[in-house]
Amino acid sequence: MLRAAEMQRHEVVVVGAGLAGQRAALAAIEAGRDVAVVSKLHPLRSHSGAAQGGINAALGKEDSVETHIYDTVKGSDYLGDQDAIEFFCREAGPTVVEMEHFGTIFSRAPDGSLARRAFGGAGFPRTIYAADRTGLALLQGIWERLGTEEFTLYEEWELVRLIVSEGRVQGIVALDRKRGSFEEVAAKSVVIATGPFGRVYGRTTNAHSCTGDGVAAAYYAGALLKDMEFVQFHPTALLETGILITEGARGEGGILKNALGERFMSKYAPRVLELASRDVVSRAIVTEVAEGRGFSGPYGGYVHLELMHLGREKIESRLQEIVDYSRIFAGIDPITQPIPVYPAQHYMMGGIGTDLRGATNLPGLFAAGEAACVSIHGANRLGGNSLLETLVFGKQAGIAAAEYAGSAPRPQVGASDLDAVEAPARAWSSRTDGEDPSTLRTELQQTMERYVGIYRNEADLLEGLKRVRAIKARFGRVRVADQSKVFNLNLTDAIEVGHLIELAEVIVLGAYARTESRGAHARTDYPKRDDEAWMRHTMARRTPEGPNLSYTPVTFTRWEPKERVY
Ligand code: FUM
Repeated sequence: MLRAAEMQRHEVVVVGAGLAGQRAALAAIEAGRDVAVVSKLHPLRSHSGAAQGGINAALGKEDSVETHIYDTVKGSDYLGDQDAIEFFCREAGPTVVEMEHFGTIFSRAPDGSLARRAFGGAGFPRTIYAADRTGLALLQGIWERLGTEEFTLYEEWELVRLIVSEGRVQGIVALDRKRGSFEEVAAKSVVIATGPFGRVYGRTTNAHSCTGDGVAAAYYAGALLKDMEFVQFHPTALLETGILITEGARGEGGILKNALGERFMSKYAPRVLELASRDVVSRAIVTEVAEGRGFSGPYGGYVHLELMHLGREKIESRLQEIVDYSRIFAGIDPITQPIPVYPAQHYMMGGIGTDLRGATNLPGLFAAGEAACVSIHGANRLGGNSLLETLVFGKQAGIAAAEYAGSAPRPQVGASDLDAVEAPARAWSSRTDGEDPSTLRTELQQTMERYVGIYRNEADLLEGLKRVRAIKARFGRVRVADQSKVFNLNLTDAIEVGHLIELAEVIVLGAYARTESRGAHARTDYPKRDDEAWMRHTMARRTPEGPNLSYTPVTFTRWEPKERVY
């Protein structure tokens, strides 16, 4: 392998350059640390930019932080930690204002104030937006702000492993994709902000880059993963591609209809209809299709999302992106035609377990954004809370990582850390036959789709677990046929599918063990929520035999669990 001239050293290394990573880096720089950002993509291509509909904050006299807190607690099906949710919602207003000051251009109401739209599960229209490109607008705002600071950017560097010695994280090993070399970066503290791992599923709104590199590396290093069985499916994704059609479309007045022309949400959420929370709407669509009231076509069953009644002006000004996506990827014009939609994997409620400041169980390791689980989303996240989470907890993790680095000793990183990554990669490349990584990935995704989807049951989950473990065993014989150095996608495929397999196993095992239905985890064999047995977080620790599960209590402050109806 090619080697950089010498090992890199920094005080704080942030892995991931989406909103959480950039916000963490900014906070650590402001605290006076020497900071490096490691990212496998150019920061402006991060998956945060795919977020469309908006960011929640209770602004204005009519709304209240209390209502935002309550909506989030209820949306989480009471699995969210209430101290974390309170902190999170109180930070929302200042966070949005700060982003505006950084240069984010939000849409405006006629009186010049920040425009707000309705989103699912919210008691008030509190989702602030930039048309349907909110993630991109925020990403540009923070990138402009971060660009005024000094830091080192390792671009096209992909995290492979964390370096742990003497019981603490002391750096990372990454693949420099431009040169094909594995590189060590020594650090006093590391912040994981690598985003989601939605590519565990085939039909997902997540970008191809969402392979959970940071979550898998943390798990491998001994970090506890939390509540991984809770997988959010977004109700409205384009049929063939899984591309997101924002909840903002329903927030602006879009309606869902089945093949009988019925506005079917009236059966499932009579009060708020299409603006019930995502788990409820996704299950409703799946049920309509399964019971024969959906449309059918070459890409499976679906329902219609109708916007036509909103009129051209409103659709084109507030939902520009989804007009383009519908035209380009579905060949339909939403101004005159309904959009064919079906749920697709969208968000992972689970991730690396952290406290409010992003600290994990591993000294020196911090995490934020979708890679982390604080937990504020519990069993189901509300739309608009994810962009907010990246910024609120990215900042906290950056501050905490900077503080930790202030008193941590000089990191010790040796050749053996690099060798632990290079040796298996050499073995993959020297095989003359073996498993193709992209075949393993496709089979993994098909397995997760089929056996660990929106509705789950014991038999499916057991079969899913068996299949994921069989794929894991085959990964032991993975082969990288492409011997090139520069942007070797065969090699990155192998690294990434290894990450996805580890994470899939945790999701399935957690889902199998949780014998209740809560939020996005819907068990047909256990259709009720069981607070007595299951009001607790799942924690997973990696062992050579597979995930070891344990459970921790949920933090309650003021809200007693109630039946969740919309
Ligand atoms: O539907 C959306 O625009 C997605 C927003 C979110 O996941 O928060």
